[in-house]
Amino acid sequence: MVNTKVVLSGWQIDNPVIPAAGTFGYGIEFKDFYDINILGTFSLKGTTKDPRFGSPTPRIADTSMGMINSIGLQNPGINVLINEELPQLKNFFRKKVIVNISGFSIDEYVYCSKLIDKEEQVGIIEVNASCPNLECGGKPFGFEIESIKELTKAVKEVTIKPVYIKLNPNITDIVSIAKAAEESGADGITLINAITGMRIDLITGKPVLASIMGGVSGPAIFPIALRMVYQVSRAVKIPVIGIGGVSTAEDVIEMMYAGATAVQVGSANLKNPYVCKEIIENLPEVMDRYGIKDLNDIIGKA
Ligand code: FUM
Repeated sequence: MVNTKVVLSGWQIDNPVIPAAGTFGYGIEFKDFYDINILGTFSLKGTTKDPRFGSPTPRIADTSMGMINSIGLQNPGINVLINEELPQLKNFFRKKVIVNISGFSIDEYVYCSKLIDKEEQVGIIEVNASCPNLECGGKPFGFEIESIKELTKAVKEVTIKPVYIKLNPNITDIVSIAKAAEESGADGITLINAITGMRIDLITGKPVLASIMGGVSGPAIFPIALRMVYQVSRAVKIPVIGIGGVSTAEDVIEMMYAGATAVQVGSANLKNPYVCKEIIENLPEVMDRYGIKDLNDIIGKA
């Protein structure tokens, strides 16, 4: 019998497998595929203060070993999330969830955080300081130490829930940004968001995405994410949730060896809606294969 339970800021989850924001909707989209209560938890589709229609189409394209997207944070806004999605979720998901928030000003993040603070179903507020699509909330916050500090402090002031800052990998020094978030009171770090890229259609000779650039995700970015999780988890004391190209139980274990306390699964959910179920089911066997009795024993041991 192996132990897959891990703890994020005092919240024990049954296993470290967490579908990432924007790849699992509000859970309802996946509940008929399998009982999603087997998940550690999941991060709800990212929300902003106001509803957003998102980017013009085409918004997604294939890449080798992954995909590229520029969704533009399409979502119905925080009020719909609180008044409709969370109450509906209670009917089929018994655990607490992560709410991922984005904004175009600190006031917008604060507005959302104040409302979420009152929601008993929410275990962690994940502050998206990392949307790779430039018109989204990430640019000013994810790129500069001072703005990460200001954002983290502002959100922490209005909530008692653990606050995890989701970082943008499109910078030179991810460690300094992570440390700035920790110094400003962040309870954890989620990393990495997608890496900015583009594709060109050879028939038209034009960019495939209407927004020209988007975020590259999928197995192609796994080694980069792993490297950043390794660097950041050694520099901070708060938990790190690793994300980026994870699609197997072996990837989860590798991320945990690098320093992740839990692991988010992103675009793999879009390719195979059962992927998180498969990872959770395979985890004990893969742990056995590598002589791991308790996942907590391998965190950061690479
Ligand atoms: O375009 C998007 O909605 C992407 C969001 C994100 O990666 O955070």
